[in-house]
Amino acid sequence: MKIRNRHGHFDFIAPFYDRVFGSMRHDLLLRSLDAQPGDLLLDIGGGTGRVAQHLAAVGVTTIVVDPSSAMLRATREKRLPGVRALAEQLPFAADSIPRILIVDAFHHFARQQLAAKELVRVLKPGGRLVINEPDLRTPGAKVIAILEKAALMQTHFIAPPEMAALFVGFGAKLITIATENINAQIVLTKS
Ligand SMILES: C[S@@+](CC[C@H](N)C(=O)[O-])C[C@H]1O[C@@H](n2cnc3c(N)ncnc32)[C@H](O)[C@@H]1O
Repeated sequence: MKIRNRHGHFDFIAPFYDRVFGSMRHDLLLRSLDAQPGDLLLDIGGGTGRVAQHLAAVGVTTIVVDPSSAMLRATREKRLPGVRALAEQLPFAADSIPRILIVDAFHHFARQQLAAKELVRVLKPGGRLVINEPDLRTPGAKVIAILEKAALMQTHFIAPPEMAALFVGFGAKLITIATENINAQIVLTKS
């Protein structure tokens, strides 16, 4: 699958991205991921490594996967490993990855069904897949979806239960869906 340049706007904002988006509660993410030092984690659509750097700092072996070369350049400047790939076609073996994280990226995936299938394929049985996304059921997320549409960003937001159902359809098991402010966190596993 060719990595097309529909990620051009990320190439453009990569140098400023971390300053604009700030940080998030990594302790809570680690708890949801059930990640321990030494565990292997893929941060899919991980961009500049904004989130991954904090997980790597506590000893989680974190690899950022992203199609945007400029975002990955910022990742590598943080001395984190980066792999240029799409969620829809991951260069990893089946059942091989114990921890997978997706923060604010799922709505950017062009083929969400294919991505869900691929993410479940690579997830190790007993592993964790954690997705953080704006929750389309909240007014704030609805505004973000409208603004991104107006900016021609080709994003596609779906509500968390619908998103979880996509993954469950490919063999994942839903652990929890929790929403705080405008963001939902969906935690899945695979048996
Ligand atoms: C809003 S940024 C989020 C970056 C990072 N997760 C964070 O929270 O800082 C979305 C990222 O998704 C990436 N992306 C877009 N389409 C993708 C796809 N099909 N597969 C994987 N990543 C994708 C973009 O290049 C971009 O870096």
